[in-house]
Amino acid sequence: MAKARTTYACRDCGSSFPKWAGQCPDCGAWNSLEESISAPVKNASSRFAGYSGDAQNRIRPLSRVDAQHTRRIPTGLPELDRVLGGGLVNGSVVLIGGDPGIGKSTLLIQALAALSEQIRTLYVSGEESAEQIGLRASRLGLPVDRLELLTETCVEGILGLAGQHKPDVMVMDSIQTFYSEQLQSAPGAVAQVRESAAQLVRFAKQTGTSLFLVGHVTKEGALAGPRVLEHMVDTVLYFEGEAGSQIRLVRAIKNRFGAVNELGVFAMTENGLKEVSNPSAIFLSRHEEHVSGSAILVTREGTRPMLVEVQALVDQSPLGNPRRVALGLEQNRLAMLLAVLHRHGGIGMYDQDVFLNVVGGVRVTETAADLPVLLSVLSSFRDRPLPAGLAAFGEVGLAGEIRPVPSGEDRVREAAKHGFRRILLPAANQPRKAVKDIEVIPVQRLSQALAVLL
Ligand code: TYD
Ligand code: MG
Repeated sequence: MAKARTTYACRDCGSSFPKWAGQCPDCGAWNSLEESISAPVKNASSRFAGYSGDAQNRIRPLSRVDAQHTRRIPTGLPELDRVLGGGLVNGSVVLIGGDPGIGKSTLLIQALAALSEQIRTLYVSGEESAEQIGLRASRLGLPVDRLELLTETCVEGILGLAGQHKPDVMVMDSIQTFYSEQLQSAPGAVAQVRESAAQLVRFAKQTGTSLFLVGHVTKEGALAGPRVLEHMVDTVLYFEGEAGSQIRLVRAIKNRFGAVNELGVFAMTENGLKEVSNPSAIFLSRHEEHVSGSAILVTREGTRPMLVEVQALVDQSPLGNPRRVALGLEQNRLAMLLAVLHRHGGIGMYDQDVFLNVVGGVRVTETAADLPVLLSVLSSFRDRPLPAGLAAFGEVGLAGEIRPVPSGEDRVREAAKHGFRRILLPAANQPRKAVKDIEVIPVQRLSQALAVLL
């Protein structure tokens, strides 16, 4: 039998190496390699022994694969179903990442309680005691009669019990607390996280059990061993939220069964997570009177258009190197937009600090924010509010052109639905038919957009 081997795995990227080094040769992180001992596979060839003579059953044309068979089970939380791509798929593995205390356990116990009314469920916790979980569930008023609970941290033990119990859906809270007997490293080490997850994923695929893996995000903002886990699972969801805000966003980063960047919106209340089915309404702060530096953006997260407010503050800078701060948007993009504003709009901000914030802790990743960002910056710079009832979207190119973005018409309708009367958009996004109650202002160049407003 081969000897147990010592390898060194990177805590950040999960790559493993035969020798220790101060810096991970793969991802460049410092001090991230930790020792892991991998036990040898007992008899590698035995794995394939059962396959001999089985080729006719196992290899088949795609046309004979029953794709219709994938059933989607509603989780009882439509916002969660939305990010999953329309419900939970049989045998799928979903990783939910987020900071400690953001609400991952709360979300999953709520979903599992609702699911337990229709199918067999199992909540496996390596973090909280059965009493703690029971207390929370009863405080939330959840139907718990059929919700089964297991507190255990050894993966082999859990899978043994799950094999007998045969749950349809299983929650593992959290992946960092489980360990496999095959490895000697401590729970939470990359090698353990990877091995535990690998065994769980294998179990899910073999038995058709749907699996939720909870993963805590490390201080640096990455899931422990993120790359390894992310490619092993079908769906990766991130739980986001600002400290001090009730709003919680669940974003699909990867989804084999639906759109990525889909956003589910919840509010954390005394009675657990409540769904926010009309997010536009909460991300718009209603100012008593019109203030300068505020613009309304029609963004699109996944498949749903949404209105959010972008705020800018432009102020004379005491520094030789003025500050550029963007919250909820990419900083480099802001710097680029300011350069375009100078070059093609003739307005320089080189002696001004520029602060930018997307209200409600939303992170906007799409380029449709360009135009509203520049409008809010200019509005603050001139201390002049934008016209009332105006929304905007559009990408700004380096040549000063306003470029179209996907789903223009949906965005116009969303703005109209929320009472906006005018919308500034790329000429190429102009709806073919007029949309009721809203005036469309198409623009082709940045100079046009600025002239329309200020
Ligand atoms: P939790 O789901 O335990 O977080 P995670 O599993 O991501 O670590 O959420 C805990 C936080 O949520 C805690 O700070 C208290 C808050 N909370 C409420 O505000 N209301 C509630 O009904 C519950 C259950 C939790
Ligand atoms: Mg938890």
